[in-house]
Amino acid sequence: MNQIGVLGAGTMGAGIAQVAAQSGYKVVLVDSNPEALSKAKTGLQKVLSKLVEKEKITQADADLTLSNLHFSQEIADFSSCWIIIEAIIEKLEVKHQVFQAIEAVVSEECILASNTSSLSIASIGAVLKNPSRCIGIHFFNPAPLMPLVEIIPAVQTSPETLETSKNLIDSWKKVTVVTKDTPGFIVNRVARPFYGEALRIYEEGIADFATIDWAMTHFGGFRMGPFTLMDYIGNDVNYTVTETVFEAFYYDPRFKPSFTQKRHKEAGYFGRKSGKGFYDYAENAEAPHPNEDKVLGKAIFERVIVMLINEAVDALFLNIASREDIDLAMTNGVNYPKGLLQWADEIGPDEVLQKLETLFLEYGEDRYRPSPLLRRMVREGRKFFN
Ligand code: NAI
Repeated sequence: MNQIGVLGAGTMGAGIAQVAAQSGYKVVLVDSNPEALSKAKTGLQKVLSKLVEKEKITQADADLTLSNLHFSQEIADFSSCWIIIEAIIEKLEVKHQVFQAIEAVVSEECILASNTSSLSIASIGAVLKNPSRCIGIHFFNPAPLMPLVEIIPAVQTSPETLETSKNLIDSWKKVTVVTKDTPGFIVNRVARPFYGEALRIYEEGIADFATIDWAMTHFGGFRMGPFTLMDYIGNDVNYTVTETVFEAFYYDPRFKPSFTQKRHKEAGYFGRKSGKGFYDYAENAEAPHPNEDKVLGKAIFERVIVMLINEAVDALFLNIASREDIDLAMTNGVNYPKGLLQWADEIGPDEVLQKLETLFLEYGEDRYRPSPLLRRMVREGRKFFN
């Protein structure tokens, strides 16, 4: 019971393989592309040497980790693994092919997990002879550094598959949260207003990118403002997540993507990686100055935070995850300074509701409709954690 399989040696697969190998497991890392395998191998060697240099691990640890990794092009090499984590291209047909191929070579008990961000686990598992062994195990990038892992049982998943998977990832010293098999799981659903509302505020001409970023870092304590973060993630990637979540929610207006971000993506203004996004990353570029007007900044922060809280409350309302897991997901998956439900308690659910109602009245858009659970909490004078 020591061998783990990882399929796909790209960004995520290589990171997941590293985490498993560092936790003492023998890892079979399979990729159909030999170049991806050799790139993963060199990358992992580099990362481990860096860790030794920084004295985070010893040379012996690094050697052991490397000796735990076996690189292969053959799915057949998964035969003695008791769990496989798939991290290949995000295409359902391809995932179907590989899941069937894996099921044909592994034992009856072997768990088949997917690291998918946007496909449903139910749809991936549907092609298996035994779909009760299929589950979502969703890491965050970079997998060795980000503590959060979302565990997603599908309608077909057995309680044993859930328990065994969760125990394994917990033993890798990750923070696990269990979430329903719904679009965006916890993080990619609840975080949408951080980007969407910031973009909307910009589009209304209320403030520029730098001012909105300043408002969120200064008043909210977020490590990065939304525009800095979108540039960091890449406007191509971030826009696609928003569009996927929007479509998957049957075009719920709360998740509507923004033309501003779409145009940036179309123009190739991806962010840091392309040298230009909402900001200019050229060497001699001058950083824009925010308008540090406190009244304006506070109003911007409050509008974004109540929208985020509303999304977290709605996720709780629909039993996407427990209140503890919803808060853990945002602090460990996207580094929020505080859990959103705890934040709601601190601001006061009545205050949050009132702000949302003001927005809803002014705009008349569904996007601002308060979650029924928020209304219920206020009516009953309750808080989320006490
Ligand atoms: P990537 O493009 O870096 O790596 C994918 C790897 O899979 C490539 O090396 C490719 O050669 C290999 N591959 C493709 N088809 C294959 C096949 N049929 N058999 C064997 N290997 C195959 O992709 P990345 O970013 O690592 O994403 C992988 C998965 O992880 C996707 O499902 C994605 O949604 C999910 N994910 C990605 C995150 C990210 O930030 N990049 C975060 C969390 C999940």
